[in-house]
Amino acid sequence: MYNFFRLILFIFNPERIHNLTVILLKLTKYIPFFNSLLRLNYVVKSSNLERKVLGLKFKNPVGIAAGFDKNAEVYNELADFGFGFIEIGTVTRNAQKGNVKPRLFRLSKDKALINRMGFNNIGVDKVIENLQKKRRNGLIIGGNIGKNTNIDNENAPAEYEKTLSRLYNYVDYFVINVSCPNIDGLQSLQTAEYLEKLLGQLTEFRRYRETYKPMLIKISPDLSFEQIDEMLDVIRTIGIDGIVATNTTTSRNGLKTGAKEIERTGSGGLSGSPLTKRSLEIISYINKKTDGDLPIIGAGGIMTEDDAINMLAAGARLVQVYTGFIYNGPKFAKQINKRILKEYQANTQE
Ligand SMILES: Cc1cc2nc3c(=O)[nH]c(=O)nc-3n(C[C@H](O)[C@H](O)[C@H](O)COP(=O)(O)O)c2cc1C
Repeated sequence: MYNFFRLILFIFNPERIHNLTVILLKLTKYIPFFNSLLRLNYVVKSSNLERKVLGLKFKNPVGIAAGFDKNAEVYNELADFGFGFIEIGTVTRNAQKGNVKPRLFRLSKDKALINRMGFNNIGVDKVIENLQKKRRNGLIIGGNIGKNTNIDNENAPAEYEKTLSRLYNYVDYFVINVSCPNIDGLQSLQTAEYLEKLLGQLTEFRRYRETYKPMLIKISPDLSFEQIDEMLDVIRTIGIDGIVATNTTTSRNGLKTGAKEIERTGSGGLSGSPLTKRSLEIISYINKKTDGDLPIIGAGGIMTEDDAINMLAAGARLVQVYTGFIYNGPKFAKQINKRILKEYQANTQE
């Protein structure tokens, strides 16, 4: 049914449809029993789906990647569709509009999206107001943080720290986003020199808090293995809790969409099917390099249940979807969770 519905949705501007979806999700709470019905239909309950990762208990290993609920408006409603955790953000200290529109495009032939949103969000204080709502039972929320566009890299550590400190008591784990291709120079923060300063300052801040909040770093799929090695050295020395791999890519290689259309779309991060192979490769590499000791949240091109299973098999402890949710519709988390259970049952019977 969603395939038919998608044909209609995909006629309209993608960002408008996204905003409309968020509004509709927010309205669901006014329809009596609707959210309970959603939960009944979409949430797969089983102790075999539960995961203990980063010292936190996840009801299932399938989450929504950053960028979908940037302002923490619909995390409960997304949980009703069967997601075990929601990563809100990217949140910056001050509100910002992001890049000029249009800035989100579908490449249907490739089952992909290109976005250059540019950290549009309502700013950390307003996000905190949204996080005060009572959460669905057991729902884990991650806070993905970044810097405002007008802040240069020299001042980035102080800026990230301010956002981290404001948000500290309101989310369960943090993701330090240094890999968005849509903020000028942001990806340079992935180099060892900047990373040491940035992560050093953030972990130093955490050292004096009463509660320990896991901190992960989100990386680009465009890094070379040498760059990943450098980053792993920094992570090991400083004591970062995990990696989210990966963000979107700037590569346009091997696309089915015609060159003219790609050119018309312009710059931005590509997500969805074209990313599946590369994100899997990176996860496998990191998992081997760290002997499976460093928790990895796998994201990037999970478009089918098999893609999720492959990522978990490659060493991801949890997975996140974004583009796959757009192309597969509301049942996607349920389908993945059911498949994980099936896989578990097959393995235990062997
Ligand atoms: C429209 C859009 C907005 C995004 N915004 C963010 C963001 O604000 N912060 C972030 O870390 N990742 C962001 N992402 C990247 C996703 O979290 C994810 O890492 C990436 O899309 C790869 O996963 P996918 O192939 O399942 O979409 C965004 C992706 C899309 C498509």
